[in-house]
Amino acid sequence: MTRPAPTDPSSAPAVAQPHNQRDQRCPFRPHPDLTADRDEASLPRVPVPNPQLGQFDGVLVTRYADVRQVLSDPRFEAGFAFDASGPRTVMNQPGILLNYDGAEHSRYRRMLTGAFSVKRVRVLADAIIGIVGRQLDALEWAGRGADLVESFAAPVPLLTICELLGVPWADRDGIRRRSAIGTDVSTTLQEQLDNFADMAEYMGELVAAKRRAVAAESTAGAGDILTDLVRRHGHELDDDELVGMGNSLLVAGHETVTSMIGMSVIALGAHPDQADALRADPALAVSAVEELLRFLSVAPPLVRQATQDVAVGGCPVAAGEKVVASALAANHGPDLLGDGPAGLDLRRAPSAHLAFGYGPHQCIGQQLARVELQIALPALLRRFPRLRPTLPVDRISYRGDALVFGPTHLPVTW
Ligand code: HEM
Repeated sequence: MTRPAPTDPSSAPAVAQPHNQRDQRCPFRPHPDLTADRDEASLPRVPVPNPQLGQFDGVLVTRYADVRQVLSDPRFEAGFAFDASGPRTVMNQPGILLNYDGAEHSRYRRMLTGAFSVKRVRVLADAIIGIVGRQLDALEWAGRGADLVESFAAPVPLLTICELLGVPWADRDGIRRRSAIGTDVSTTLQEQLDNFADMAEYMGELVAAKRRAVAAESTAGAGDILTDLVRRHGHELDDDELVGMGNSLLVAGHETVTSMIGMSVIALGAHPDQADALRADPALAVSAVEELLRFLSVAPPLVRQATQDVAVGGCPVAAGEKVVASALAANHGPDLLGDGPAGLDLRRAPSAHLAFGYGPHQCIGQQLARVELQIALPALLRRFPRLRPTLPVDRISYRGDALVFGPTHLPVTW
């Protein structure tokens, strides 16, 4: 595995995220540049800002079949920047699944699969319903004009992942602040190193407490993931690995769902007929969430590195080149949807979209994310039948400087 050249820790990278660029007038549609190259014989190379690697040139892959190839072909690796002996960053932390490939990746992933099974997630549904109910009250108390991100979209997934991981709710503000920095591409490498050290210290204390509780056999009844990992795998995972697993779940488990809730409210506000349909028919929640996942495609950049010369969709990619796959472009393209319109249609039969990625690294938390959205969105529409953003879609402020696309703030009324 090769480690990228260290970047200057004091220089902040540019902020545009090429995989996730949106049409300036419509935050749901891919930017025309993203779809323009679909019929070209060669793939474009674009600058990609990254808080850990610095800015690099990446091969931009947008066609549905090409994205699936890159994400499932073993000639592309995900853990290309991993060097556990280097300073700790998201890409240099043991225990984070995206830092491994092949058998090593499967070994770590197997330890977590049970925690995210459909059965385990169903058990969590009651807790999620309770969290959603409390945050609906919080939104109502905040009154018309309240920021939906503050009162609802951020706390619901954050409290859910805290519950699942066995992390104290009281720690949520610090967790939110640190994960916002961790996914902010406008930060410097030094800021990332400092922030990651804070995250590791926080999770390290939590892991030590779980180890003490398991050793003292005082965890009877505790069903949280961290306790479970220590109980079942504590002998084969060191604290460094447990810190990586814990922190990656904490961050991945709420940034994306927060963005999805915010973007869904914006999309439903712009498509009132679709909002009416979902409000009238709770059974629509399953297909509605699947379609919103496809339509909004908030996913972080899917970055891989070619281990050898390889052709993608007939176009050459050289060994060592990095590839950035765009789920947004693929999910709006004709390969997935045929010649039909790519617009929002909550009644669309669930498509084989790539919002959760594809292949061995496909999102491990997808069932949890689905259940959170299937509970949260209809509940919002029922409690606030006239819920809508106070601003037109093109005047809302979006997190263009984050790995995950979504609104920074979302003032709403009802
Ligand atoms: C709507 C919400 C979500 C979206 C759109 C999303 C999207 C994704 C995508 C696209 C990937 C693949 C990354 C790649 O191949 O480079 C991924 C991986 C992952 N996601 Fe999610 N995710 C969501 C929610 C969650 C939740 C709730 C959790 C955990 C509680 C989670 C944990 C993970 C983990 C651990 C991985 C790495 C899996 C591996 O490398 O094997 N995600 N997610």
